[in-house]
Amino acid sequence: MLSFRFEKLNAFQGKSAAIKRPREITVFSFDDSHKHHLDGRSLRYYYPPFVQVPYITEKNRIDLSQGFETFIKHDDSVNLHLNPLLDTIQHYEEQTGAKLKADILTWRGMMTKIFIAPFDMFGEFEMNATCYQNQLAKAAEWKSKTQRVSSSLEKMQFWGYKFETLATLPKQWQDCTRGEIEGRDTEVVNNNPQYCSVVRTGIGNHTIVIGGEVDAVEGCKPDDPNDSIPYIELKTSEDFRGDDDFAAKKFERKMCRFWAQSFLLGVPKVIIGFRSKDGHLQRLEEWKTMDIPSFVKNRGMRTWDGNVCINFAAAFLDFLKQHINDEGTWTIEQKKGDKQILLSKISDEYSRDIVSTKFREHRATF
Ligand code: A3P
Ligand code: MG
Ligand code: MG
Repeated sequence: MLSFRFEKLNAFQGKSAAIKRPREITVFSFDDSHKHHLDGRSLRYYYPPFVQVPYITEKNRIDLSQGFETFIKHDDSVNLHLNPLLDTIQHYEEQTGAKLKADILTWRGMMTKIFIAPFDMFGEFEMNATCYQNQLAKAAEWKSKTQRVSSSLEKMQFWGYKFETLATLPKQWQDCTRGEIEGRDTEVVNNNPQYCSVVRTGIGNHTIVIGGEVDAVEGCKPDDPNDSIPYIELKTSEDFRGDDDFAAKKFERKMCRFWAQSFLLGVPKVIIGFRSKDGHLQRLEEWKTMDIPSFVKNRGMRTWDGNVCINFAAAFLDFLKQHINDEGTWTIEQKKGDKQILLSKISDEYSRDIVSTKFREHRATF
């Protein structure tokens, strides 16, 4: 077993490692029964919920718990591994005739965990990685742990999805009926549909292909594929008073995850719906993703540092490249709050769970 230790973060401070702006390669969707489609049908359009109610008062604030009883919740106990991503890449390669080259292929959620590990006091994860072919050499995926969630936590998770339903539309505003816009309050919340962007990006010496969910686009996607896309990430967070330093610090720590998640996919804006303790939406705040690290730096509470996250990830990927250099399967694990990431080889063969038969057959003839 090998260990990547990070008790001291000095080595990761200073100028950040080279990073490339993420570029979207392709997209895919899950529909309302979580069926996979090779298109962008589940893209949502941002349209804030407060337009008719400019002043939020105790009386007209929005109750995010409304509709909890009818929530259609995606069953995430089935591990799809990397399959939706591999199917999408196969389709892309068949359409374009070009083989997609990358050092690492993974889900955005996994890279986020690695990005925030230096500052996440309670961080823990376990994932599998496999090495298959020279291109797309390393594929890493989550090893999902089924977690039982308490009912209060379940309600809080619902608030996040409810906010997404209230703040987005299925089409651009001008193409929606009044009913579609005003009926969002009573729309059944269903978290099965997802729109996912697949991007190519670079961190340090590594080319990475990442797939991740995008909550919505502001306006619409540009026609020119070289233009950046005005995607947005929606979040909810408990509101706090300006003089409450403890709450401000807690929020700053959360911002690390918001930033990392959005930065990795090149999502330029994060919109936060602040809610009361009991789940009433009170106000919205817009953040440019790229401004978040400097805001945190200037506040001086030193909860996290964006450059350290980038340098840490670049160094950790160097470590993986050094040791995952032959066909095989490994586990990558951080135990709760531990200041090290463990790497263990569990097989001399690539994982057939991670690299599907379908993808192998495609690559064999491609
Ligand atoms: P909030 O982030 O507003 O709490 P995302 O923000 O990544 O688009 O996810 C949407 C919502 O899914 C979140 O809303 C949260 O309710 C829920 N969610 C996301 N990741 C989660 C996790 N790891 N555990 C539990 N719930 C999660
Ligand atoms: Mg989301
Ligand atoms: Mg979100």
